Parts: sequence; structure tokens; C-alpha cells
Amino acid sequence: MTGGHVERFGRLRRELHEARAEGRRRWGDAFADLGGSEPLTAWPSDAEADRALAVAAHTRRYGPVEGRDDIRAAVAAHYGRALGIPLGPEHVLLSPGALAGITLAVLALCRPGEPVAVPLPHYHAYPGLIELAGGRPVPVPVDGRLTIRPPGALLLANPVNPTGAVYGRRHLERILPGGPVVADEVYAEHVYDPRDFTSVASMLPLDGSVAWLAVRSASKTLGRPGLRVGVVIGPAPLIAAVADRSAVLSGAANLPGQLAFAAGLPGAAAADHMRPYRARLHDTLALCEGLGLPVERPRGTYYLWVGPPAPATAAHAARLCRDAGVFVWPGEYFGSPSHARVSLAVPRATLAAGLRRLAGAR
Ligand SMILES: Cc1ncc(COP(=O)(O)O)c(C=O)c1O
Repeated sequence: MTGGHVERFGRLRRELHEARAEGRRRWGDAFADLGGSEPLTAWPSDAEADRALAVAAHTRRYGPVEGRDDIRAAVAAHYGRALGIPLGPEHVLLSPGALAGITLAVLALCRPGEPVAVPLPHYHAYPGLIELAGGRPVPVPVDGRLTIRPPGALLLANPVNPTGAVYGRRHLERILPGGPVVADEVYAEHVYDPRDFTSVASMLPLDGSVAWLAVRSASKTLGRPGLRVGVVIGPAPLIAAVADRSAVLSGAANLPGQLAFAAGLPGAAAADHMRPYRARLHDTLALCEGLGLPVERPRGTYYLWVGPPAPATAAHAARLCRDAGVFVWPGEYFGSPSHARVSLAVPRATLAAGLRRLAGAR
């Protein structure tokens, strides 16, 4: 049922997981794992999340496929405030994680066999999920700076995992809307200067005249990837189309997870998500410069996109795991075998040790 992307990324994922596990076995506590994709902070507090998740009775029922009515309303109010647009419950749907939300969005907006442009480097899952949704992924080699309006549909991460690039309003105005747009905005709160980021939701009309959907996630907004809750935002008719697909594919997000998500939003709204990363970024850029590791200052996410000698291919990254005791996700995993992704969301000592090993290894 697929054109090979699912299998190709599956092979890369397995190869890297095995090498990472072997590196851990060989190097023990000295293994420097710079792969971390979980944020360093989380909302609500663990105690509050415990309370929300301990509602076992909720797991005895199906909820509405769009999300529970009161939670949808709370989520719509939160994003309406954050985005400065009049969102109602009909404009949001709670999905079982952002990945499912993005897949449902692609299914809702794109016709079978149609091309879906994916700027490179891309989040590893995009070509596979487009393929599963019946579309044709078309990588657009832009290295995070998309300057042309791509023909057909567009699946765009903003901010960009893995490069840390952020598309602002002016930039988006040049590329939107060529056709249907799915904006993966799971790192929307992870921007060093919030003025750099604009959501497509603040730019495109809510009346259904333009085909767009934006996706957010508990994994990043709340730092709780285990909740498996995502949010799809968009015009009401398109949210209904997403719900129709969810009803025959994934079903609703789990109800305790929805409750915990709603409980965490007020804290997340008041927080500076970048607080744990500012000093780390400053120190790490200085260290990279000292070590001769080429890197551009990211505008968002908690990643750095590091050039050679950081390992660009899975084979090289796997070798470094075993022989140098350091793991990073290679650019090949993101469709761009030129750089590697280094996470700032790891202990500082691990970060420094890992970067030294990257610089010293070949
Ligand atoms: C750009 C991007 N999109 C989507 C996801 C998946 O989010 P979720 O955990 O909600 O499925 C991630 C997770 O790391 C991501 O980095």
C-alpha cells in the first residue's frame, strides 16, 4: 500500500534505535545522547496531571470523535486568545497526537495521487504519512527557507524540526496559499523571539474559502508526549471533514488525555517555553564555534542543525554511537543528508561532552 517511504524511514529508525541501544550498553553513563525530543518543562504539574488521568470512569466510554464538547470549547478559547481570532469549538478537533492530526488533515485536504510539497529538511514522518494518505510527497529542496509558492498542496512545519528555522508573516505571505496548506505548528511556543512566528491561523480566513489546517500538540505545548493528544485547528467545514476521517480511522483522542491537556493549557499559556534553552543556546553556539562545528543560530525549537563533521547519514550516526559514544539524528532521517540534529533538551554536561565527541570523530 505504500511507495516505499514508510519502509525506508522504518529501516532508518530501526537501524538508529539499535545503534543507540548498543551505544548505551557499551558506554553506560558516559554515552552522550543528543537525540532528545521531549521538552524540558511540562504542564500541568505531575500532581494535577495525575488527578486528570486518574479518572478511570472516562475510559469506560467513547467520547465524540471531535473531542469532548467542554474540552473542545476550552481548547478553542485558549487558541482563540493565543491567535487573536474568534475560534469556537467547531474550529478545533482533538486528535490522538499531532501525527494522527496531520495525517487526518492531509486526508481531508488532498485528493488521492495529488502532489504534496514538503520543504526539506522535513520532519521524518511526512513522506510516509502523505503516502499512507494516498498523496504523492514532493520534497522541495529549500533548507528551511521556502521562497517560492509551491504548486498544489503544502505540508509545512513552522517552526521547523530539525533546523530551528521559523517562518514569519512576510515569508508566509509569499508562499501562501498556493493550494491546500497543512501547517504543523507543534513548536509554536518554542520560538526564541515570539515576534518571529506567525500562525497560518492568524493569516488565512476562517470561513472555509481557503483550505488550511494547523496542528498543535500536547507533546510540545505541554511537554507531555505520552498523553498522545494533538489539536487540529481550521475552518468549521474542514474540521468536519477531518472528523469524518477520524471516525473511520483513528477515533477520538483518549478522554483522560483530553482532560489533562485542558488542565495544562492555562499554565502553558502563562509560561516562557524557551526559558530552559536560552543560556544553553548561548553556551552551545560558543562551544560549537570553538570546536569548529558549523551551525546557524536557530530561531525556534530546541534543536541545532549542525554541519560536518556531524554525521549526515544513518550509517555514520550508527558508527558514532558505537565507536564515539555519541548519538544525534542524522540529516538523512529528515531527507537532507548534509547536517545532523542536536537537541538542547538534554543535560548540559551531556551536551558539551557529545559536541566534543562529534567534533573529534570522523
Ligand atoms: C514537527 C513535528 N511534528 C509532529 C510531531 C509529532 O507530535 P505528536 O507527538 O503529538 O504526535 C513532532 C514530534 O516530535 C514534531 O517534531
